[in-house]
Amino acid sequence: MNKRQTRLFAIGCTGVAALVFLGMTIDTHRQFPKLTNEDKLTPQVVAGKDVWHKNNCINCHTLFGEGAYYAPDLTKITKLRGEQYLQAYLRDPSKFYDEQRHRRLMPKQDLSDADITNLISFLDWVSNVDNQGWPPRPLLVTGASLPGTDLASPQQAASSNPAATTTPAPPGARPMAGDENPMALGERLFRTVAPACNACHSVAPGVNMAGPSLAGVSARAAQAIASPDYKGKAKDAQTYIRESIEVPSAYVVPGPMYSANGVSFMPNTYAKALTPEQLDQLTAYLSSLK
Ligand code: HEC
Ligand code: HEC
Repeated sequence: MNKRQTRLFAIGCTGVAALVFLGMTIDTHRQFPKLTNEDKLTPQVVAGKDVWHKNNCINCHTLFGEGAYYAPDLTKITKLRGEQYLQAYLRDPSKFYDEQRHRRLMPKQDLSDADITNLISFLDWVSNVDNQGWPPRPLLVTGASLPGTDLASPQQAASSNPAATTTPAPPGARPMAGDENPMALGERLFRTVAPACNACHSVAPGVNMAGPSLAGVSARAAQAIASPDYKGKAKDAQTYIRESIEVPSAYVVPGPMYSANGVSFMPNTYAKALTPEQLDQLTAYLSSLK
C-alpha cells in the first residue's frame, strides 16, 4: 500500500468501528425500557429515589456497583430480605448489628415511615432491573451469596461446609442417589428458593444472621411449643419446623432483630410459593440439623 491507500484504509476502518459502536449504543438504549421495566417506575419509586439521594445512602452503599465501597451493594437487597425486615432495619439499624460481628455500622437515618416505604419500592424496582450480572463482585450483605456460587462470606463458607450440611441417611434407610434424597433436595432448596433461606439463616451453630442459626432447631422445638407465647398447632419437632416456614409468626424466636409486635421478619410467602413436597424436603433437611 502507498501512503494514500494507507490513509484511506485507516479512515475507512475508523469509520466502520465508529458505525458499529454507534449501532450498539443505539441498540442498548433501545433495550433500556425493557431491561429497566420502565413501566413500573411509579411515583412512589421516584419518591424513593429522592429519599435515597437526599440521605446520601450512596456515600456508603452501591447500586449496580456505583457508589462508595464501605457498605454492601443494595442492588438485589429486596430479593434477600422481606419488606417487614427492611422496614424495621431502616427505622433503626442499630437493633440489627453488633459491632463484634459486623465491624461496620450503619448510622440511624431518621427516616419517616413514608420515606421508608418509598425507599423500599425504589429498591424493589432496582432489584428487578436486568443488570446482566453487573457488578460481578459486589460487596455483599451478611449471608448473601453471588449468583452461581454458594460461598460468600466466611460465615457462609462455614455453613456451606459439606461436613456441616450433608447429613447421613437415617439408619436403615435405603441408600439413595443425592438427587432423590429429600434431605439433599431440601438442602438445595435452602440455597435456591426466593428469597433464599441462607440469605438470613446459617446452619452453623451460634452463627445468627438476619435470622437465627438453624443448627439444632429440632432439639429446640419442644421448648418453643411449650412456651406461653406459642400460637401454633404443632405437637412435634417436624410439624413445628414446617409450621415455622409456612406461618413464621406462629412462634417468634425471641430477639429484637427477629420480629416486631409479634410479627416475624421472616417472609410469610413460602406457604404459597413452595409446593407441599418442597416444604417436606426443607423440613426433612432442617430436622436433620444437629
Ligand atoms: C455511614 C454509612 C452508611 C450510610 C450513610 C447508609 N448505610 Fe446502610 N449500611 C451501612 C453498613 C455498614 C451496613 C452493613 C451492616 C451489616 O453488616 O449488617 C448497612 C446495611 C444496610 C442494609 C442491609 C441490612 C441487612 O443486613 O440486610 C440496608 C437495606 C441499608 N443499609 C440501607 C440504607 C439506606 C436506604 C440508606 C440511606 C437512607 C443507608 N443504608 C445509608 C452503612 C451505611
Ligand atoms: C429475611 C430473612 C429470612 C429469610 C429469607 C428466611 N427466614 Fe427463617 N427466620 C427469620 C427470622 C428473623 C426468624 C426468627 C423469627 C421467627 O421465629 O419467625 C426465622 C425463623 C425461622 C425458623 C424457626 C427457628 C427456630 O429456632 O424456631 C425456621 C425453621 C426458619 N426460619 C426456616 C426458614 C427457611 C426454611 C427459610 C427459606 C425457605 C427461611 N427461614 C427464610 C428470617 C428469615
